[in-house]
Amino acid sequence: MDYPARPRAKRELGRGISKFCYYGLSLTGADQLPCGFMDFVYNLMVVAHLLGMAAVVGGYAASQPRVSELMVWGARAQLITGVILVGMAESIDSLGKDPNMTKIGIKLVISVAVAAFAEIGRADAKRGKAVPWMTHAAGGLAIVNVFVAALWT
Ligand code: HEM
Repeated sequence: MDYPARPRAKRELGRGISKFCYYGLSLTGADQLPCGFMDFVYNLMVVAHLLGMAAVVGGYAASQPRVSELMVWGARAQLITGVILVGMAESIDSLGKDPNMTKIGIKLVISVAVAAFAEIGRADAKRGKAVPWMTHAAGGLAIVNVFVAALWT
């Protein structure tokens, strides 16, 4: 079945295309909500994703050679918000997103490594043992992910 193209702006809303994105295919029914609302929810998730990035990279800069609690929470936040972003982008037509899955797959693998190094490094730090290479691996890979996110279009 053919669906009308997604209106890019309010002024493009024509006859038969309401502000409710009724024409999108969605298992969750989220497309029955106004387009603007789901855009807003998605953008809130992008904010959380960027704050998570700030926590993991900022935490690394401030706490190295040890892993801080902030880094660990940032790494967890990146995994959770990243997966939610991809889930929303793939399932809500009205967002008009088409994520590059090769790029997302690479970010996911790097992000899992960041979280693993951060969790293990933090557990060691709590026992009074600093493992600098693990801290640098977590922080360095998080920075690599920022490059992948921003440079791979
Ligand atoms: C340490 C881990 C991560 C870091 C530092 C990171 C960083 C970033 C940054 C800086 C952006 C904004 C880029 C831009 O708007 O041009 C971004 C966007 C995005 N990231 Fe991540 N990310 C991480 C993990 C993940 C993971 C695990 C996923 C998914 C499985 C993911 C999915 C996305 C998506 C879908 C966007 C696009 C948001 C949009 O529509 O603009 N990220 N990420």
